[in-house]
Amino acid sequence: MTMAFHTLRWVDDGTVEILDQRRLPTGVEYLRATSAEQVADAIRVLAVRGAPAIGCAAAYGVAVEAHRLSKLPAADVRSGLPAAFRVLETSRPTAVNLFWALNRMGTVLARSTDTTGAGIAASLLREARQIHAEDIAANHRMGALGAALLPHGARVLTHCNAGALATAGHGTALGIIRSAVAAGNPVTVFADETRPVLQGARLTAWELQQDGIPVTLLPDVAAATLLARGAIDAVIVGADRVAANGDVANKVGTYPLAVLADRHGVPFYVACPRSTLDFSIATGAGIPIEARAADEVTGFGGVTWAPEGVAVFNPAFDVTPASLVTALVTESAVIHRPDRIKLAVLDTAERSPSA
Ligand code: MRU
Repeated sequence: MTMAFHTLRWVDDGTVEILDQRRLPTGVEYLRATSAEQVADAIRVLAVRGAPAIGCAAAYGVAVEAHRLSKLPAADVRSGLPAAFRVLETSRPTAVNLFWALNRMGTVLARSTDTTGAGIAASLLREARQIHAEDIAANHRMGALGAALLPHGARVLTHCNAGALATAGHGTALGIIRSAVAAGNPVTVFADETRPVLQGARLTAWELQQDGIPVTLLPDVAAATLLARGAIDAVIVGADRVAANGDVANKVGTYPLAVLADRHGVPFYVACPRSTLDFSIATGAGIPIEARAADEVTGFGGVTWAPEGVAVFNPAFDVTPASLVTALVTESAVIHRPDRIKLAVLDTAERSPSA
């Protein structure tokens, strides 16, 4: 399927173009970032969001900064770039793809033997483009693997936006749906609106409409009713970070969905690329959860409905225990009932791809 939009892309004059997701669905507007600081800001304010898209944006953030410095001698580019890494690292804490992508960019920088600033910038841009291309390819493989899990005419419930908008393209959870539809399965989607930032209402509903995939929007609290009625065949969500034991951090509201799916005997699938797996964190309890501003909960779009001064609890993500995950779908495998041992096997296989 050809997408009618691009989430982010490199423009050859040394800018990264980012679809400003704060304006969707009413406006399709692109930001043009020419420094790491501007890219970090776009991540911080959710102009670009979704774990894999954040990783790609961070990689381009380094590339854009290197391009900005590229007329300087190589030594000055090398000494100027650590500040760019620092500003990008602190943009958001939960999606591990951000740190994974910066780590890849840092490795390229450390290993580069380029003797000019322009050479270093070219090496970094090549790696950012590679990260971007790999993400799209991973999503297509994940889509094919995940589509095979869905019955004909499946009614799929999803939460937040784990689509093309949240990745370099195609999507993770929505990538599975796209691949199933492309293979002739008439899947229909139920999209949680996803309080408080409404990624489901603003982004998932819009993205699926662009592709002509039937979508029904619901308040998050109505998911229980659908599941209890037997109106859902599968729940599919994305992830921001998966711990070594298979616990999943994703948009707040994912954990209650997993509990509900378990209660009603509906499979609960998590789709994410391997870049979302964090083997350095033993369990979900160790995943840093972003706390976001109170005004996301006390009102929206300039309108405030809660009394002034009320205390607010606004975690951006929650953690679903691995025991509630029917299967984890990555680009290399479907891991049924993920646990520490199954994920360690996957990790080992990846470290020695010829094995
Ligand atoms: O706060 P957001 O919009 O960045 O949260 C996004 C999610 O929780 C997604 O489900 C997750 O990043 C997976 S995107 C393929």
